[in-house]
Amino acid sequence: MKARKNILCIGAGYVGGPTMAMIASKCPECRVTVVDIDPERIAAWNSNELPIYEPGLDDLVSKCRGRNLFFSSDIADGIRNNDIIFVSVNTPTKTFGLGRGMAADLQYWEKTARQILAFSESPKIVVEKSTLPVKTALAMERILNSTKNNIRFDVVSNPEFLAEGNAIHDLESPDRVLIGSREDENGLKARQIIADIYLHWVPKERIITSGIWSSELSKLVSNAFLAQRISSINAISALCEKTEADVVEVSRAVGMDHRIGAKFLNAGVGFGGSCFRKDILNLVYLCRSQGLEEVADYWEMVVKMNDYQKERFLQTMLGAMFNTLAGKHICLWGFAFKADTGDTRESPAIYIARRLAEEKAVVHISDPQALKNARKDLADIDDIRYIEDPYRAADGCEAIAVLTDWDIYRRLDFKKIFNRMEKPAFIFDGRNILDHKLCFQIGFNVYPIGKPPLTHF
Ligand code: NAD
Ligand code: UGA
Repeated sequence: MKARKNILCIGAGYVGGPTMAMIASKCPECRVTVVDIDPERIAAWNSNELPIYEPGLDDLVSKCRGRNLFFSSDIADGIRNNDIIFVSVNTPTKTFGLGRGMAADLQYWEKTARQILAFSESPKIVVEKSTLPVKTALAMERILNSTKNNIRFDVVSNPEFLAEGNAIHDLESPDRVLIGSREDENGLKARQIIADIYLHWVPKERIITSGIWSSELSKLVSNAFLAQRISSINAISALCEKTEADVVEVSRAVGMDHRIGAKFLNAGVGFGGSCFRKDILNLVYLCRSQGLEEVADYWEMVVKMNDYQKERFLQTMLGAMFNTLAGKHICLWGFAFKADTGDTRESPAIYIARRLAEEKAVVHISDPQALKNARKDLADIDDIRYIEDPYRAADGCEAIAVLTDWDIYRRLDFKKIFNRMEKPAFIFDGRNILDHKLCFQIGFNVYPIGKPPLTHF
């Protein structure tokens, strides 16, 4: 019989909620509790309207909630009554003091460590689920062992690799689960206990183990490599636009080399999401603090190239529309940082909307899931129109900019849309998802990414 485990997760966000729901669903003999300092978030997890939109999540949660999955605001009680504590709190970029704008802000992390210390009455395995700078586990161990309470704490690193919008699939069938620990007797024991949880559904060969510092670093490096591919193809998209090459053709030709691979080579308006930027900056900061200036510069370019791509997109719009956007109505299709999520953290749409407002354009924003967050992100800007229906959002506009790769945008009636827009009408396809030739034949002036524009002048 499988041993019953009492598992706690501190942090009920995009990672904590879905990850724990998957563990509860796959390990029915375990009791899983998720706690958070934000009572509204917990109330939402306990309601029919979950705090995050993620395909498949509603079903997963409703299957387990109240059976062996619980959401609660009682952090002290959670710590007291559980043996394994996953910590999945946010680790944003620091906005103040030393390392401002670069280093990870570890205040939420440290607060959690102190809570664990304050309320523990029995031994715990503390699992780093959040993405953290290398050697954070050492700081965690020092805090946890700072009193003479004789309670044993083992700190294990188990970074999360899920991508939003695809989280349930990624959790159910991960490429790998990485578990890092100290390589002494207690560390190896703790590592095995965490591996046993995943062994309920993940094949053994996909569960890999390592030293704890390698595990922490592997997470930062994975995100840096993924983002680097996007910045690389985006850099090439700029060259394609100058040379009449087509970035989609180039990326297909390059990606068919199996050593390179086809994934993550879609040029676009730039990467967003809560993690790529912050994790690379964190890596850059680590390198600089170790005196590795060249290494830091190398990785920092990935972020700079992303900033350049967003500004380049805006400047293409400005140039194409006769160098003035003042008073023009411009519709943004998509505000989420990618399709199938309502998350807008670091979405390129935030930058584009703000720059358009600076140019005094009247911005219409449409998105099937992200309008609530968009309103918060742009709360300081007057006269932005939020319209869920993409047809109505484009009504009377002079341009549409596609900023999120939502599938719905591929299947719209472009003739109807064109007829209801001001002329000349423009489409700037920041995700290369539309049928550009068709849009051009209908009458649009079409500006894809990394391809020659199709214009009527
Ligand atoms: P999030 O902001 O959605 O959730 C974090 C939660 O932690 C919040 O609800 C917050 O209220 C809570 N919290 C903060 N301090 C707390 C405390 N002291 N006690 C209890 N709760 C507290 O963040 P997220 O997107 O879930 O990311 C969490 C971590 O996972 C980050 O380190 C991130 O880099 C990493 N990560 C995120 C993703 C992703 O797709 N979002 C994927 C992999 C890894
Ligand atoms: C990313 C990683 O893919 C996950 O493995 C990781 O766990 C997570 O970050 C994290 O640490 O938070 P996520 O940000 O949710 O996941 O989504 P991605 O699919 O990676 O997309 C990130 C951004 O890159 C999006 O804006 C997307 O539109 C963009 N992108 C992606 C491109 O512009 N081109 C591509 O080819 C792929």
